Amino acid sequence: MNHRGKIKIDFEPLGKRGDCFTNNSILECAELTGLGINNICGGHGKCHKCKIQIMNEMRSEPTSAEKDIFSPEDLAAGWRLACQTFPDTDCKVHVPPESMTTSQRLQVEGLALSVPLQPNISTYDVTISPPTLANAQADADRLIQTINSQYNLNCDRIDSDVIKDLSHNLRLFNWKCNVSVYNNEIIAVTSSSNSLGFALDLGTTKLAGYLIDLTTGKTLASKGMENPQISHGEDIISRITRIIESPKEAHHLQKVIVKAINRLSLQLCKEINASISEIMESIIVGNTAMHHIILRLPIKQLAYSPYIPAINQSIDIKARELGLHFAQGSYVHFLPNIAGFVGSDHIAMLLSADIRKMDGLVLMLDIGTNTEVSLIDNGNITTVSCASGPAFEGGHIKDGMRAADGAIEHLQITDASVNYQTINGVTPIGICGSGIIDILAQLYDAGVVDKGGKIINSHPRVRKTQDQLEFVVVDEDERSGRTSITFTQKDIRELQLAKAAIRAGIQTLLNVTNHTEDEIQMVVLAGAFGTYIDISSAITIGMLPSLPFNRFKHIGNAAGIGAKLALISYDKCIESKNLPLNISYVELANNKNFLNLFVEALSLGNN
Ligand code: FES
Repeated sequence: MNHRGKIKIDFEPLGKRGDCFTNNSILECAELTGLGINNICGGHGKCHKCKIQIMNEMRSEPTSAEKDIFSPEDLAAGWRLACQTFPDTDCKVHVPPESMTTSQRLQVEGLALSVPLQPNISTYDVTISPPTLANAQADADRLIQTINSQYNLNCDRIDSDVIKDLSHNLRLFNWKCNVSVYNNEIIAVTSSSNSLGFALDLGTTKLAGYLIDLTTGKTLASKGMENPQISHGEDIISRITRIIESPKEAHHLQKVIVKAINRLSLQLCKEINASISEIMESIIVGNTAMHHIILRLPIKQLAYSPYIPAINQSIDIKARELGLHFAQGSYVHFLPNIAGFVGSDHIAMLLSADIRKMDGLVLMLDIGTNTEVSLIDNGNITTVSCASGPAFEGGHIKDGMRAADGAIEHLQITDASVNYQTINGVTPIGICGSGIIDILAQLYDAGVVDKGGKIINSHPRVRKTQDQLEFVVVDEDERSGRTSITFTQKDIRELQLAKAAIRAGIQTLLNVTNHTEDEIQMVVLAGAFGTYIDISSAITIGMLPSLPFNRFKHIGNAAGIGAKLALISYDKCIESKNLPLNISYVELANNKNFLNLFVEALSLGNN
């Protein structure tokens, strides 16, 4: 074995790559890269705070410290201590949140739309006359009759699990209780007056959860968390592939995500001193693959052309059937999908924007590994899904990373110096999507990079490595001896491919609807990436159309907002179910002009 061989480590979920040597531990590699992994004992195998999971085959025998804390199954699954593991080959390492000191930015906020409160669930304060020999009606019948006559309702059934505990509970609560009703079905009988709703944006890398008071419509708590399925596949395609190769993985991945949702909702409930069993209703939105995984629907057909979902219609299912620990008879509603690569998160995004009231032509984008774009024309929606790839999340970019502490998110090149801004103002460790767009825009504006994306000009910060030119963003001196952070010619090519996919998708939408760019009255950018992107940089590189700035609007986590709206408004819930009827989905792979548009869109600039 080469004792000083150079290897590459991919740290997930931050998507940060680092160069290190075969005689470095993973902990040392992380430090060299600038990533923070807990190491209270200083790397002596004693504190067990540096747990990581190696995602690929690697020959490095576990030490006795590792054998002490990990079971053989854990070790076989790749669990190790970062300070005790010396990789001998390139590898991918998952750093779980509890081992990480560098945190990922998990956006949950968004622009809220105000709608009249009209939840699907109603909760009633009910007082029941106890049975007597003269009135020996069954407990369930008595409850239904009482609530119907007290509140003029038409309840006709009680959830089967609620019935099992009903006789005991009615007596325990001394015949006074709170009864939650969904669609004429009694779904909970409790002593608490809390009626909570849970909205979830179930993303491939992140979960954004919201706890709502269904009696006021107020958001009581919100929180983001990493999707733990990342340790089973960084992107959705690798998870689908894993399931296809080993069908029992489907069951495992479903359990992993359900456990995470239970944990997230429990944390949210704890913040307001409530119980998870007080969650009476929930709405989940996400991409089609995540939707299929949690519902244990077949997924193989999503991976192959023509990428067909098992179902697009909305689904209502008891929370317990999924393994969620919410109120006994509560339902989880999954909003409809649009296509194999356009899921209910896009429906929720459209819902959040109140498209019925939009005048003129509106373009809505949710930028990510897959970018969903809709063109809205007087209520008619045309949608495409652009394979923009991982560049905006730092993937395939030499020093790219996801948006997390230490990621350069914005920068300005002034003569020979670079002024940058990192997330949370900490020492830079890499560049996230918005920073990458800024760099390319400024290099193009300064004439360092030409329209074709080639580095053409000498600049004090451009240097030649063994195989390519690169622009030095942060040099070794500024990083106290760590390797410099650079933006390479290859990175530019990656970014060109990503932005061209989006721009060609936009142009296809305009072509099929017979519109021109100038007619677009508003461009709405959703999602975490859309929130932080610099519009002028995105226009400069030709990713977005060149329109006046006042026609652009950031709306934050619109998918989460849409899910919340469907939870508190019956009308919005119905609207979400009907939205697909107004959507024409255009499959880009099937569009004759798309390839030409894509090639044209590779150029930088905007004319
Ligand atoms: S740093 Fe303490 S066990 Fe690894």
